[in-house]
Amino acid sequence: MAQLWGGRFTGNISDLAWNFNASISFDQRFLEKDVEGSTVHAKMLAKQGIISQEECRSITDGLAGILRDVREGSLEITDKYEDIHSFLEANLIERIGDAGKKVHTGRSRNDQVALDMRLYARDEVKEVSGLLKRMLQTLLQIMKDNTETYMPGFTHLQKAQPVTLSHHVGAYFEMFKRDALRMKDIYERMNYCPLGAGALAGTTYPLDREFVAKELSFYGPTLNSMDSVSDRDYLLEFMSALSIIMMHLSRFSEEIIIWNSNEYGFVTIDDAYSTGSSIMPQKKNPDIAELVRGKTGRVYGDLMSLLTTMKGIPLAYNKDMQEDKEAAFDAMDTAKNCLTLFTDMLATLKFNRSAMEKSAVRGFTNATDAADYLVNKGMPFRDAHSVIGRLVLHCIDRSCAIDDLDISELKEFSELFEDDIYDAISLKTCVEKRLTIGAPSPEMMKQAIESGQAFIRDFYL
Ligand code: ARG
Repeated sequence: MAQLWGGRFTGNISDLAWNFNASISFDQRFLEKDVEGSTVHAKMLAKQGIISQEECRSITDGLAGILRDVREGSLEITDKYEDIHSFLEANLIERIGDAGKKVHTGRSRNDQVALDMRLYARDEVKEVSGLLKRMLQTLLQIMKDNTETYMPGFTHLQKAQPVTLSHHVGAYFEMFKRDALRMKDIYERMNYCPLGAGALAGTTYPLDREFVAKELSFYGPTLNSMDSVSDRDYLLEFMSALSIIMMHLSRFSEEIIIWNSNEYGFVTIDDAYSTGSSIMPQKKNPDIAELVRGKTGRVYGDLMSLLTTMKGIPLAYNKDMQEDKEAAFDAMDTAKNCLTLFTDMLATLKFNRSAMEKSAVRGFTNATDAADYLVNKGMPFRDAHSVIGRLVLHCIDRSCAIDDLDISELKEFSELFEDDIYDAISLKTCVEKRLTIGAPSPEMMKQAIESGQAFIRDFYL
């Protein structure tokens, strides 16, 4: 045990309590961030005349040496230390002597860990944003290639009206676009530096918080020292946004699982992203999509866990907050993995166009258009709805589509039917005539694709 405290104690902590209290097994992820923060802190202390330039150089060289040795494997991070902050400080002192004892001047582990987490989460927000961009590019390609790939649109998982694959995938484009905008939004709010808040009430040393914030590429310092060490809102926002991404991925996974079923046969998943059965030789299962759907619950759980942890904590720092890490890391790791794999799977997915089109024709998706046809010939909509309803029932009895009936049969339902009905209810016409903003016609999809392209081009974080 090598702890940063002890002067006030006469006895030793029990082994069980030490292990229960320690966070080094998971906060060692902060190694780079802690070195970065401590380096800038030392530079600021020297600039302010709180430590000498020589001491500063010794500290920054020492920290760089520790980082190098850990990376090379000659120095091991062990559970002898309580957390990554203690590990670094103890090793620094061992390496450079008394100057190392000055690195923690005007600082507390409370603002130190708040800084590390912010630096870490900031990178993660950027990384997720990059993965979302890749997803958007993949979706856009499918949209471009399939403006005339007809398929049924569903409500209640019942075939409803014809759409195109481009349009269906375009719906996900909008969802992931909002997810990307959420990343940007979160970044804007979180990018303030908590270092200098001290334990909770700032410090009496003349720290230059503006300097530290600037050196670490923050917009500026946080404005209340108690809030600085207690705030985990940005993590909650990030985890909420990750949960929404997972919800989108999960819905999409569910559709791919349905489309991949023997009954639908709309898609073929590449062998690289499916698995077989140990007993049934014919099986090719959509495991990746199922796992993404399954892992969604886990990310929601991480969010709920931290929300619950935070809800009863009085200001300012309390040890409960150490619990933010495992939940936040798990949510970040899981969501990034799912985004990466799902996008890979999507990029190699084969769409079985004829199965999709056949399903749209067979599913009476043109029934609304058939009713609209009668309305255009002068029949009130409610009557047209009823005529087509009876017509559909007739077709169900005969296992055929409306288009399969000849004109004399159609006329038995309404005298208004003419030869132009066949063209009016073809999938092509049904889709092409949907010209309102956001509708599936190739003309409107062209606009959606252009605006999607512009979004990807202009989006940065
Ligand atoms: N490992 C701690 C955490 O993650 C670091 C801060 C410790 N602060 C304290 N006052 N004990 O929250």
